[in-house]
Amino acid sequence: MAGDLREHLVQYFEEHHKLVEAGALQLLLDDHQPLVLSRELLERSEGGSPLVTREMVEAALALRRPPSVGVAARSTSSGSVVLEGRSFELLREGFEGPPAAAQPLVAYEALFHSRYRALTRMLRGRPQLPNLRPIKDLRSSDGGASVIGMVREVRETPQRHHLILTLDDDSGSLEALVPKGSPGARTVILPDEVVGLHLQFSKEAGRLPRVVALERPDVPVHRSMGRAPPGHRAIFLSDLHIGSRSFLAEPWAALIEFLRGRGPRPELAQTIDHVVIAGDLVDGIGVYPRQERDLAISDIVEQYVELGRRLAELPERLTVVAVPGNHDAVCPAEPQPSLPPSLAANLPPSVHVLANPSTFALDGVVVEAYHGRSFDDLIPAIPGATYARPTDVMKRMLQMRHLAPIYGDRTPLAPLANDGLVIDPAPDILVTGHAHTYGVDQYRGVLLLNASTWQSETEYQRMRNISPVPARAAIVDLANLGLVTADFSSGSAAFSFPGT
Ligand SMILES: [Fe+2]
Repeated sequence: MAGDLREHLVQYFEEHHKLVEAGALQLLLDDHQPLVLSRELLERSEGGSPLVTREMVEAALALRRPPSVGVAARSTSSGSVVLEGRSFELLREGFEGPPAAAQPLVAYEALFHSRYRALTRMLRGRPQLPNLRPIKDLRSSDGGASVIGMVREVRETPQRHHLILTLDDDSGSLEALVPKGSPGARTVILPDEVVGLHLQFSKEAGRLPRVVALERPDVPVHRSMGRAPPGHRAIFLSDLHIGSRSFLAEPWAALIEFLRGRGPRPELAQTIDHVVIAGDLVDGIGVYPRQERDLAISDIVEQYVELGRRLAELPERLTVVAVPGNHDAVCPAEPQPSLPPSLAANLPPSVHVLANPSTFALDGVVVEAYHGRSFDDLIPAIPGATYARPTDVMKRMLQMRHLAPIYGDRTPLAPLANDGLVIDPAPDILVTGHAHTYGVDQYRGVLLLNASTWQSETEYQRMRNISPVPARAAIVDLANLGLVTADFSSGSAAFSFPGT
């Protein structure tokens, strides 16, 4: 495992155009959150030396904040981190403490600067973006030049349907024309995403520069991927909604029977080491109008006590990783902190509660778990996107390297100093929930999972035209990302394999 992580770190720095010295690499590997520390280093060394030295890591360690709590991690001499003897490594929690600035406007400015810096690092140095300049230094006499900026506005010209982009960087803003039908106009450009533009300036005064190429941060085509030794699997679940009248108790019992080796395919169940739950652990209270009519347990603490009982039914050998969702009892602004200790205390000790989103490695395979609230903004904004196919939207998240770019709509964003919704590093598996459907796809080697729900259709969902695909679980072989879908919706387990 330490070897896999070593390779990941080297590649991570390469992606940011840095070379890491051996001594520095070892210090990073010895840290309990190597990728968090690496990111801090990149932020500090921005524009500086192309080398990451041992002294730089030592300086970063001396300055760093106390580690976030939530996971009891123990570093081993080999540099890997073991939780209670299981192969789990926390790489990064999206929530890193409350905003440093008290003034909301100042805090949001810091958040967007952080997003801009993080995504600019991914775009800088690309051959498709030659002659890269700050916006304030652009001159129409330049002919061709490139900029990296955050999209403030996209509007369409009334007659010819060209796009006019307004883009901001640290130095200023500009308007640029994306001609209709040009490559840059093919994929919808979303507000607040960070893009690189190669511009061509016109010799005619007063004409907008034309976008010749539009680059997104995206996932590298070639990268090393984390893989476990044979015989290790993880099962991905989401949206349990414990406390709801519509919780699917019978399918849940079938899942437990299977995992305990008392259902069909006990040999498959035996290889499962990890359970990942992508949020909405409980149904919550007051989440939508007149929710009380749908609740079997109307006390929020009692809902978590019941969640604890349900999770205690899982075999003890399993490591459970759970992030909250918009129904859970934590601040709804994203990134969300992990469950407070008072509620987490109701869960078995094998459950590790993390922030939403969080990135962690399971036997060397990097998983990013995000509940998926931003589907509520991205689906209406992306032509053709639907709740029935959330994995299409997840591809766009990877292209933007951001889970929830749009500010000021249905997904509240927390004004933290570091934008924890930037997807960094690129994961091997991206798992979401929220859509209450089941979806599997791939994008540039990343396995995309939308991990179903354990709640049948509620009145509220019927009203919003959401048809759930409940009681499915994705069982992933961590050695090769091969997948088995387990369907418990009939009250007993049925398995399907790709291509069968
Ligand atoms: Fe949900």
